[in-house]
Amino acid sequence: MCGIFGYVGKRNALPILIDGLTSLEYRGYDSAGIYIPESGSVKSPGPVKNLRLKLPKKMKGTSGIAHLRWATHGKPNQINAHPHKDCKGEVWVAHNGIIENYQELKTKLVKLGHKFISETDTEVLTHLIEQYLKKDGDFEKAVIKTLRGVRGTYGMAISYRKEPGKIIAARMGAPVVIGLGENENFIASDPSPILRHTKRVIYLNDGEIAVMGSDSYNIYTLDYNEVKRDVEMIEWGLDQVQKGGFPHFMLKEIMEGPEVIKNTLRGRLLISEGLAKLGGLEAVTEKLRSIQRIIIVGCGTAYYAGLVGEYMLEEYAGIPVEVEVGSEFRYRKPVMDDKTILLAISQSGETADTLEAIREAKRKNILTLGIVNTVGSTIARETDAGIFNHAGPEIGVASTKAFLSQLTALALLTLFLGRQRQMSLVTGRRIAQKLLDLPQKLEKVLADTKYIKSLAKKYSKYKNFLYIGRKYNYPIALEGALKLKEVTYVHAEGCGAGEMKHGPLAMIDENFPSLAIALKDSVFEKMISNIQEIKARKGKIIAVTYEDGKKEVGPLADVVCIPKTLEMLSPILSVVPLQLFAYYFAVEKGLNVDQPRNLAKSVTVE
Ligand code: F6R
Repeated sequence: MCGIFGYVGKRNALPILIDGLTSLEYRGYDSAGIYIPESGSVKSPGPVKNLRLKLPKKMKGTSGIAHLRWATHGKPNQINAHPHKDCKGEVWVAHNGIIENYQELKTKLVKLGHKFISETDTEVLTHLIEQYLKKDGDFEKAVIKTLRGVRGTYGMAISYRKEPGKIIAARMGAPVVIGLGENENFIASDPSPILRHTKRVIYLNDGEIAVMGSDSYNIYTLDYNEVKRDVEMIEWGLDQVQKGGFPHFMLKEIMEGPEVIKNTLRGRLLISEGLAKLGGLEAVTEKLRSIQRIIIVGCGTAYYAGLVGEYMLEEYAGIPVEVEVGSEFRYRKPVMDDKTILLAISQSGETADTLEAIREAKRKNILTLGIVNTVGSTIARETDAGIFNHAGPEIGVASTKAFLSQLTALALLTLFLGRQRQMSLVTGRRIAQKLLDLPQKLEKVLADTKYIKSLAKKYSKYKNFLYIGRKYNYPIALEGALKLKEVTYVHAEGCGAGEMKHGPLAMIDENFPSLAIALKDSVFEKMISNIQEIKARKGKIIAVTYEDGKKEVGPLADVVCIPKTLEMLSPILSVVPLQLFAYYFAVEKGLNVDQPRNLAKSVTVE
């Protein structure tokens, strides 16, 4: 949600800034802008490609800051595009987050004679820094004094025309990573744009700033105490943040599914003992033996993964589970005791609502675990223990491969907690073996996508869809509908198939198709009855089924077959045809699949 990038070094900053923005584009595309102290600024509404068209032939300078906007305060237009400047055009700020007390600060600054030109909250920062600079001209101190007076969230890159050899990064509640190169340093919202220059990074903590020159960096708290922090190495390779010959990241990431499952499982299964070995839980293993309740928190797709986790953990580990979206959890009064743990699921590790749920649980002394994809992210750092997904960077805004890895990690956790309790060796071995078999099975689903593509084409004229499933595949119906909504802008609703007759069935007619997940498992017969109910109302159906379910489902629906697996693991396979259906549907409509309108990856505001 908004991307910031900064460079200071010896090279020409312009192409580095534009490249940086391009790799961050999944974080926002309402406007883009750059500022280079020796040359000035260029901004444009819309994505980076619009900005590129406006760049003058030559812009020289060896430092600069850049921004991609996902609009919160103020329309997504030229005036509101970042970086923002002070009255004299000397202090420039690229900001991700929200300054909550900006109105009050703005009123004071206007009284002091400052002239505001945008509708954004960010602009108060530039004028405040300008105000403090008037005292002694000390850039660092002016930034620190400014930050002490603001309330809200920020990940920031700041540049000062009079000190072009320096850029400052600051963080409070929105991610900031600094990259350390040879004679050059970087600031970014996440490591992906830094990767092509260096793998050495430091993640800033809340309440810290980094003052960076080409050969130096210093980190300070807002009390101006210097902080020493170890340098970390980014694990990801550059190829993982590029499309690698695929037309879109979304398709590339769906196709990476088998590899992703292997990576999530790697080194974590002891087949003959029927155990999961989870290094990230070692420190809390004993505590986990006695827990009696799990609250899972996530947002969007991660929340749906949590719903699947609820079925897994209750059935196989016998632990009561509740699942809640972060935005609701944080504002109610959850009843938790010392036998309750909170499990947060997040691909980015930066989702504000999920993070606040963790903080609320920690305030109540509850053990917090994370299933997080992004190493070094805030959620990864703030949870007490956890499981990394190892899905690699997910760039497409619609989450696909991360969901598979979240489900796989939940299955590992189920095995881990189940074997600490009543789960037998035989069941443990069976789950472990079936997990290992998944990548090969998924390869079969992905081997031929032509049929799904043809279905997407056939159904692309419809404006409404109902997705239905039961038990483990009820959350998959919700997730399938979410995927379609977000990349095609077509209305889709997910519902438990048994709930259909309590309302949604009223919508069904020949113009309202349904997608059903009808696998030959414990709820197959019920699913067939529900499909019949739709059929009886002239509703068209696409069904995802196993080969052995074709006989019953075939006469009623357009059928997509997936290989059979354990019921608990079936969502890991059944969701993929739904992801592909949404993808090809969006391509058919000529939409920007990787960057759906109004959305952004990593939602760092409430
Ligand atoms: C949907 C999607 C979102 C995210 C949600 C949580 O495709 O991507 O619903 O799943 O914003 O994000 P993370 O997992 O980063 O916390």
